Amino acid sequence: MNSKRTMLGRLAGLLRRPYSVPQLQGVLSEANELVRLAQKSGQTDRCGEGQRRYHIDAESAMEVQWQTLILPLLQGMDFSVVVDLAAGYGRNTVKLLEHAGEVIVVDINRECIEYCQRRFANDKQVKYLHTDGASLKGIADSTVTLMYSFDAMVHFDSDVVRAYLLEFVRVLRPGGRCFCHHSNFVERPGGTIEGLPHSRNFMSAELFAHYSLKAGLSVRQQRILDWGGYSKLDCISILEKPLA
Ligand SMILES: C[S@@+](CC[C@H](N)C(=O)[O-])C[C@H]1O[C@@H](n2cnc3c(N)ncnc32)[C@H](O)[C@@H]1O
Repeated sequence: MNSKRTMLGRLAGLLRRPYSVPQLQGVLSEANELVRLAQKSGQTDRCGEGQRRYHIDAESAMEVQWQTLILPLLQGMDFSVVVDLAAGYGRNTVKLLEHAGEVIVVDINRECIEYCQRRFANDKQVKYLHTDGASLKGIADSTVTLMYSFDAMVHFDSDVVRAYLLEFVRVLRPGGRCFCHHSNFVERPGGTIEGLPHSRNFMSAELFAHYSLKAGLSVRQQRILDWGGYSKLDCISILEKPLA
């Protein structure tokens, strides 16, 4: 404990900011808690055999979803620098690359990043970020034109969603947009995903809009979706970082 306090004291000194040791302890424990919550969806999605099967099945459904659901909602967006958040094996990345100047593949699982590195080995437009699960550390402020996430945020804990929304505001250029596919399932509060329809975490269109607005993003459109036999289980929110 003493050595931890000394380490935090040094950190406070290094930061040259008026943080007290207890304040820093609070910041660090909040960060640890976020990483723990992020690992819940991260662990479930670890690219084992079940996940490999998901990615093969999901890839074959992609073309129809892209043409009928996704692409119409992406009309008019700037594809210069796109982030594919929680990219998995890159089935969305392939489609985004048809339009994008650059795609940054982000995922919590190193196996997914490595899979995409092999898949897009010859594509210099693709960059990679292995995230801690709640941040976009490594992507510079105001550099991204489109934040994109499909079939992944639906599983994220609401605290993780909020943390990412703050990161979206940071990395987006003014006028940049977000395409976020998230949960609209509010029947089981508490942040668990085990045993829930398609492992949807607690979230609603309204709560997502609330968090987005508080983060500083405007909500341009929300489309409620049926998913896998469940009515109104999901939502796609289109957000924008204001110009000024
Ligand atoms: C169901 S897969 C979907 C992958 C991809 N978006 C697709 O549509 O094929 C969910 C992905 O989210 C990633 N993931 C889970 N929690 C995450 C988090 N907190 N931050 C970033 N990636 C996460 C997993 O590693 C996995 O690749």
